[in-house]
Order: sequence, then C-alpha cells, then structure tokens
Amino acid sequence: MIKTLSVSAIQNGTVIDHIASRQALRIISLLRLLDKKLKVTVGLNLPSKRMQLKDIIKIENHILTNEEANEVTIFAPEATINIIQNFEVTNKITTTTPSTIASVFICPNTVCITRIEPVDSFFMIEEQGQKVTLTCKYCEKSFDRNKVKVRI
Ligand code: CTP
Ligand code: ZN
Repeated sequence: MIKTLSVSAIQNGTVIDHIASRQALRIISLLRLLDKKLKVTVGLNLPSKRMQLKDIIKIENHILTNEEANEVTIFAPEATINIIQNFEVTNKITTTTPSTIASVFICPNTVCITRIEPVDSFFMIEEQGQKVTLTCKYCEKSFDRNKVKVRI
C-alpha cells in the first residue's frame, strides 16, 4: 500500500499533531501564527487511528517555546508536538496545561470589567480529563474552553 501524507512533510519546524477536530483554527489564533508571517500548513478533519478525526498544524522554520506548547494544551490536551530538523522528528515536547493565562482570551461575560475597560484578561485554568474550564479573575465566572474566544 502506498502511504502518502495528507499534509506534506516539512524540513524544519514544528508539527502539532492529534489536535481534536475543530480546534486547529483556534490554536492558530492563540499562537498568533498569522501575525508572524510564518509558513503554515493545516489539515482539518483528517482520519486518525487514535481519535475519530484530527486536525494538524505544521509550522515551518519555527520552534514552539515550551510556553507556547503548554498554551496549545488548553485547546488540545491530547496534541503531540514534534520538532522537525532536516526532515526527522528530533524531539517530542511534553506539555503541561498552564494554570493561568493572561491577555489572550476574551471573557465571554459582556458586563465583565475586561470587556468595558482596557484591562488585560486573566483566567485560571482547570483541567479534568477532556474538560478544560477557564475562570475569569475579574468576574469570577467559569467557562468551558470552547466558549472562550481568542483575542485577534
Ligand atoms: N512529520 C512531518 N514532517 C517530517 C516528519 C514528520 O510533517 N519531516 C509529521 C508526521 O506526519 C506526523 C508527525 O510529524 O504527523 C510526527 O511524526 P512521527 O513521530 O514520525 O509520527 P508518528 O509515529 O505517527 O508519531 P506519534 O508518536 O505522534 O504517533
Ligand atoms: Zn470576566
């Protein structure tokens, strides 16, 4: 059987694999990949042995920092992050969900002070299995990770 990749192999960079489907575009916003003018290829709803459908993001010539890799787990706790050098996987980054995150998310509570005044958002993060909950430091309301938008 001829095995081909749905998204081409890269020479150098980072591959974020096994992203639960629907999360890739949010991760692209979270990591500000569009602003950085990086060459990025994305696969959405690809078949996977491990999960029903997966998304994948390949970022060329950029190595995610540990902090960025940890942020990815907010949207994709099961993602595997591979560093590629000269077409080989040279490292698989082990991630831990951060316990707090500043600035990047918008509080869904429209009367929260962070939506009215120019205050940076700040959330405490709790992970229970697949469920990730973010609690706003300012209005103290909790939200499922899928309800929180990323600041663009
Ligand atoms: N990959 C890539 N370009 C390369 C090498 C690998 O895009 N030059 C991608 C592969 O397509 C895969 C991921 O990086 O999506 C991890 O590669 P590898 O460890 O070889 O794959 P698996 O054995 O499937 O890894 P896992 O441990 O995640 O199952
Ligand atoms: Zn709030």
